[in-house]
Amino acid sequence: MQWLEVTGGDDLAIDDVMRIESAAGPIAVYRLEDGYFATQDICTHAVASLAEGFVEDGRIECPLHAGTFCIRTGKARTLPATIPLTTYPVRVDDGRILVGVPDGTDT
Ligand code: FES
Repeated sequence: MQWLEVTGGDDLAIDDVMRIESAAGPIAVYRLEDGYFATQDICTHAVASLAEGFVEDGRIECPLHAGTFCIRTGKARTLPATIPLTTYPVRVDDGRILVGVPDGTDT
């Protein structure tokens, strides 16, 4: 796993989301009241960027068909979304927001 720094992540407001690019594909990085979280950015229902969606009550609402997912677990919560999102670990190191992304060496 490699730790990818989220440029501008410290500017994220609570209940905001931003998209970053990674070797594993685009990732949506969220800030909630209790910290930072990350999921795959592309919705599992069809092709839409969740970073363009809406954060409310710990869920991300897809901008295309309004399916929702739990940001903390990736679990699909509202139809038409049924397939969970991949989630990624996030840590804060000396003020830097870092997302753990598989680099092909993970087992
Ligand atoms: Fe996200 Fe349909 S593309 S709910």
